[in-house]
Amino acid sequence: MRDLLIVGGGPGGCAAALRAAKGGLSVALFEPCQVGGTCLNRGCIPTKALLHGAKPGCDWAALAAEKETVVSTLRAGMEKQLKAAKVELVPAGAVVTGPHTVAASDGTVWEGRSILLAVGSVPAVLPIPGLDLPGVVNSDGLLEDIRPRDHLLIIGGGVIGVELAWVWAGAGCRVTLVEALDRLIANLDRELSQSLTMELKKAGVAVYTGASVAEITPGPAVRLIHKGAEQVLAADTVLVAAGRRPATAGLFEGLSPAMERGFLAVDPSFRTSIPSIYAIGDAIGGAMLAHKAEAEGNAVAGLLLGRPTRHGVSPIPSCVYTDPELAQVGLTLEEAKARGIPAVTGKCVMGGNGRTLIEGGKRGFVKLVFHRESHALLGAQLCCCRASDLISELTLAVTLSLTAEQLLQPVRPHPTFAEAISQAVEAGLDALEK
Ligand code: NAI
Repeated sequence: MRDLLIVGGGPGGCAAALRAAKGGLSVALFEPCQVGGTCLNRGCIPTKALLHGAKPGCDWAALAAEKETVVSTLRAGMEKQLKAAKVELVPAGAVVTGPHTVAASDGTVWEGRSILLAVGSVPAVLPIPGLDLPGVVNSDGLLEDIRPRDHLLIIGGGVIGVELAWVWAGAGCRVTLVEALDRLIANLDRELSQSLTMELKKAGVAVYTGASVAEITPGPAVRLIHKGAEQVLAADTVLVAAGRRPATAGLFEGLSPAMERGFLAVDPSFRTSIPSIYAIGDAIGGAMLAHKAEAEGNAVAGLLLGRPTRHGVSPIPSCVYTDPELAQVGLTLEEAKARGIPAVTGKCVMGGNGRTLIEGGKRGFVKLVFHRESHALLGAQLCCCRASDLISELTLAVTLSLTAEQLLQPVRPHPTFAEAISQAVEAGLDALEK
């Protein structure tokens, strides 16, 4: 009997395996594909590698090779770490057949004191005709076949749709983005969403919001209703990026833990309704992000080791790797108001930020949301160079409920993007004093 059987070798499963094994538990990790999961092999890492290199006139073969080098280097590093920690990597799928039993697709049966499900998610399938036509792909398909497209039409203006639009538009291809809701990446602060739409349009992307897709027809072409009128848009590739769903199909045989809207239901300790079985990451809902899964994996391993948890699991920052980058954490002003929390904002526009001017950065801002009474930082929304790095300082502040006054204690170096944080805090304090 092993101490821990982990199903799924993505960021969550690997983080849990490493922490548990380093802490002295015997761990077997089941992964039928490649370690690293969606994030490393078919998601964040390849997309960011492409975003880094996509330019008009770029060499697509070199770009694909560069992406592959980054992915395989990171994957080899993870495999090495798992081996060094003595995690047993089982290259097989797994089905949970009992509270302590897993059957692997290679015919072996495994017993564990605890089981951790870190199975992730798969692209959602839209209820429209034409998804199986030639030229229609999901993000997995697009990232496996890196080449220029005459016209890439993307259904879904969430993070995947937007980042992949940015890659192909950045490389000079014609791109159309079709989103059902009234704005792109609707879980972002409204102002971030507006800035994003403006930058995409400047980059030549045709953006249709509030558009419902009726069907995909051979060609492929997309029939949609936009502003009450029907339109048919022909493309050479249609990318469907309309969300992801938990990869829980066929995961259990003879037992059925509680589910909520298709996600595995867990308690605050990530325990499912079957006490020996835990679940983390995309499969339990919330933000479908690698760093969320990793934090949760570390937390479960800490629990099983009986040690105080080293890693927090919230708030979860989110980033969009466009130019400028977007990042947010905690509450927006709208969300604070909706919860009846008295809040004010402080904002700094990047036009006067020296580093932004030096680096030719685009228009942008740092916006901070403070509690009107306690002055604690409730949230931050950034649209600027290196927003994805700056958000960590603000995530720390939201996590520790640091106040506006405390945020002004550190001297931030000059000239840096981070100086905008000091200025946004000052603007926040002005608003708090009113
Ligand atoms: P998503 O849920 O973020 O966005 C899907 C979008 O498709 C939604 O805006 C939805 O309204 C739209 N949609 C749904 N049906 C539609 C239809 N019939 N016609 C037009 N639009 C339609 O899902 P997405 O972008 O597929 O990403 C999946 C997950 O991966 C997300 O949770 C995201 O956070 C994560 N991710 C994160 C990244 C990052 O942090 N930088 C990068 C890529 C993905």
